[in-house]
Amino acid sequence: LHNGLAQTPQMGWNSWNFFACNINETVIKETADAIVSTGLADLGYVHVNIDDCWSNASRNSKGELVPDPKTFPSGIKALADYVHDKGLKLGIYSDAGVFTCEVRPGSLFYENIDAELFASWGVDYLKYDNCYNLGIKPEDRYPPMRDALNATKRRIFYSICEWGVDDPALWAGQVGNSWRTTDDINDSWVSMTAIADINDKWAAYAGPGGWNDPDMLEVGNGGMTYEEYRAHFSIWALMKAPLLIGCDVRNISSETMEIVSNKEIIAVNQDPLGVQGRKVYVSGPDGCQQVWAGPLSGNRIAVALWNRCSTATIITASWEVLGLQSSIGVSIRDLWQGKEITRDAVASFGVRVDSHDCAMYIFTPDPGALSNM
Ligand code: DGJ
Repeated sequence: LHNGLAQTPQMGWNSWNFFACNINETVIKETADAIVSTGLADLGYVHVNIDDCWSNASRNSKGELVPDPKTFPSGIKALADYVHDKGLKLGIYSDAGVFTCEVRPGSLFYENIDAELFASWGVDYLKYDNCYNLGIKPEDRYPPMRDALNATKRRIFYSICEWGVDDPALWAGQVGNSWRTTDDINDSWVSMTAIADINDKWAAYAGPGGWNDPDMLEVGNGGMTYEEYRAHFSIWALMKAPLLIGCDVRNISSETMEIVSNKEIIAVNQDPLGVQGRKVYVSGPDGCQQVWAGPLSGNRIAVALWNRCSTATIITASWEVLGLQSSIGVSIRDLWQGKEITRDAVASFGVRVDSHDCAMYIFTPDPGALSNM
């Protein structure tokens, strides 16, 4: 969507993966505090997004949505002010149906009044879900909210959460700033890998202004190993996915911080070229030795060597699968170790990767060599 936003994928935090419905204004404020004090804000994680369950069970007599008086007694405007004072942005959630998934009022047929209210509160981001949609096709439900948000004159990031059921990549580019390509992620290796593969199919549709959304990060929620979370973060960054942290940032561990604060991997995600990296080569049993790669600005290439096998194995990227002539010399920087590892590799590069781990690199072909990724 060409509304000037989403030139690179959105970065921030969302309440759902860790808190689900157990949210309140204190949790949101403390999270905003933690995003600043941990340094995550300075790394670009600026969106503080409230998910489902913020609103009261019914609208007021004017037909407006009302924050739940028990959990958000000070209201959303006060929360937006608090978040803005910290240099962050506030996101809210609604649904392109008659109810949200947790049965709060939805915005279908109330698009203008709700968009106006969100803008008056100072909201910067809307995640728009797909429950209770009366079977109306998404092309008739999502554009009215885009138009209503546009009409407010406040620039509001529009995140389409249609779970990929109607192939949103095919129609949402003109409608939203990102669109969910898959069902909900859960905090497991099986879910994370399956979602990565589905999102990969839609790579051609992503670019500045609109991104494929394989759902929010589970890094730090406890269901995967350190290596698996490192792979999750590497591949989400390479796929130009939104980087929305989904753990309790108030109690974030140093291991989780190490993963989500890797500046060089964040820079791959935020690269101005904005091309989604893809799975470019598989080998081994069930294709578990995988090379994922994509072009970056400055004629560079982001390369991830992802071991989805159950034992450690060597994974090799050949220049051929990266679109390079085999005689070309390439400098290689290891993004998890933060150091140059070779100045002039030729033809291929292989390395031993632990089970479920993902090594990640930037390849810089020698000056004069052109990559055709
Ligand atoms: C379904 C969405 O896909 C989730 O991300 C979350 O927003 C829940 N609905 C909330 O009910």
